[in-house]
Amino acid sequence: MPKPATRFVCTACGAAFAKWAGQCGACGAWNTLAEEAVPRPGPPGSGAAALGGRAVPLVGLRGESEAPPRLASRIAELDRVLGGGFVPGSAVLVGGDPGIGKSTLLLQAAASLARAGRRVLYLSGEESVDQIRLRAARLGLAEAPVALAAVSALRDLLATLEAEPRPDLAIVDSIQTVWLEEVGAAPGTVAQVRAAAAELIRAAKARGFALVLVGHVTKEGALAGPRVLEHLVDAVLYLEGDRGHAFRILRGVKNRFGATDEIGVFEMTARGLAEVANPSALFLAERRGNVSGSAVFAGVEGTRPVLVEIQALVSRRAGEGPARRAVVGWDQGRLALLLAVLEARCGVSFADRDVFLNVAGGLKVSEPAADLAVAAALVSALVDRPTEADCVFFGEVGLSGEVRMVGQAEARLKEAAKLGFATACLPKRVAGRGRALAVPEGLRLWEVGHLADLVAALAFPERRAGREEAPRPAVRRS
Ligand code: TYD
Ligand code: MG
Repeated sequence: MPKPATRFVCTACGAAFAKWAGQCGACGAWNTLAEEAVPRPGPPGSGAAALGGRAVPLVGLRGESEAPPRLASRIAELDRVLGGGFVPGSAVLVGGDPGIGKSTLLLQAAASLARAGRRVLYLSGEESVDQIRLRAARLGLAEAPVALAAVSALRDLLATLEAEPRPDLAIVDSIQTVWLEEVGAAPGTVAQVRAAAAELIRAAKARGFALVLVGHVTKEGALAGPRVLEHLVDAVLYLEGDRGHAFRILRGVKNRFGATDEIGVFEMTARGLAEVANPSALFLAERRGNVSGSAVFAGVEGTRPVLVEIQALVSRRAGEGPARRAVVGWDQGRLALLLAVLEARCGVSFADRDVFLNVAGGLKVSEPAADLAVAAALVSALVDRPTEADCVFFGEVGLSGEVRMVGQAEARLKEAAKLGFATACLPKRVAGRGRALAVPEGLRLWEVGHLADLVAALAFPERRAGREEAPRPAVRRS
C-alpha cells in the first residue's frame, strides 16, 4: 500500500508544492510552507452527477434582477464598505492582525442588528462566553438580544446554524479555530480552514443567512491566513491600523455586491470602535504648519476624499554603503521612481542623502495621485523650506517629469476647501481635454505642468509671485 501522500501548502497564499522549500514559490513569503495530507478524493460516485447530468437552461444577459436585499448594521462606516449592508446568503471574510479590533467591530454590528429585531448568532471559538459577555458589558451592549455560543467543532456549528429559528446573520470568530474530524490535519491548517469555510458557506447559501468569517492575519508558521479563503467568499474586508494609533481602517478588497477600495474609518475608544465621520480632520489633527518636509495630499479612498499629511526627512547619508530609503505607508518602488525623476528631469539629487518618507497617522496610500505631494515633501525637506501650510497637492508624475491629471479632482478640491485650505496644487490641464472643473469658492488653483516647475517654486519661493495665472476659460467657479 502506498504511504499516505503529503504535500506542502503555503499558509499565506495557499499554493501547494510537492517539496518543502524555505520560500513560497508563489507569493514569495518565507517559512510559510507547512506539510499536510493530500485531501482524500470524495466518496465514489460523487463525480457521477456528470454522468447522469442534464443540460441546464441557458439565459441571456438582460433580465429582471433585483438588487440584493441588505441587512444594514446601521454602523455607516461598515455598511458603506459592504455596499449597503450584509447580503443574505452571502459570506464575508473579515481579516486583520490579532488584537486590531475585529471581534469588537463585529460584536457592535451584531448588537445593532439584534436590536433592530434580526436574529444574530455570534459563535466564538476564540473566547469563552464569559469573556464575550464582559466585552459586551464594557461596550454597553449587554442588553442586545444577540445569541451567543462558544463552539469550534464544525458539526456543532452546522447543527446550530441549521436549527430553528433561521438566523439572519451568523458570525464565526475565528475560522482558524473551527475544525472537522474528517480532515486529518490540525485546526488552523490550510486544509482545515478551507474545508470548514466551504461547509459554512454552503450552509449560509442553503439557508439564506448572511455569514461573517473572521480570519486572523498570521505572520508565519503553520496557521493559515485569511488570504487562503479570499476566493471562496463573496466579500473580503480587512481591518487595518497601527496598534500605536487609535484609528482603524476597514478596507474592502473584494465585493461581489458592491464597490471595492471603499474604506470605513473608525477610532478605537474605551467604548469600542467609534465611527469617524470626518477622517481628513483626524489625519491632519496633529499637523504642525511651517515645517519643512511636509505636504498635504488630497487623496481619494473609494468614493471618499481623504486629506493626509506626507512627511519626508532627508539627511546626509550616514556611514558608508548605499543611501537609505525607508517608507511607511507608501510604495517603496514608487519612491525610487520619483527620486529618479527628480534627479534625471529636475536636476535634484538625493544620491548622498538618506530619505525617509511617512504617511502621518498610519494610513496606507496606494494612489499614484500622491506623487506630487510626495515630491513636494521631498523637495521641501531637501531645501529645508516649508511648503505653504494652506496648500494641498495631488497629481501623478510621469517618467519624463510631466504631471498628469488624476481622477476625482473635483471631490479632492471640495474636501480641501471644506477643511479650510486656500490653494490646491494640481496638474496643469491640457487645453481642450477633459471637462471643466468646478472649483469651490475661495480656492486658488496652482497648476503645474512639469515637476521642475514645482521644484523651482519650492526652492525659490520668492520667484513664485507670477504663478497665479488668470483662470482659464475652462475653469468654472461654483
Ligand atoms: P479585539 O476586538 O479583541 O481584536 P481582534 O478580535 O481583532 O483580535 O480587540 C482587542 C483590542 O481592542 C484590545 O487590545 C483592547 C482594545 N479595545 C479597546 O481599546 N476598547 C474596547 O472597548 C475594546 C472592546 C477593546
Ligand atoms: Mg477576536
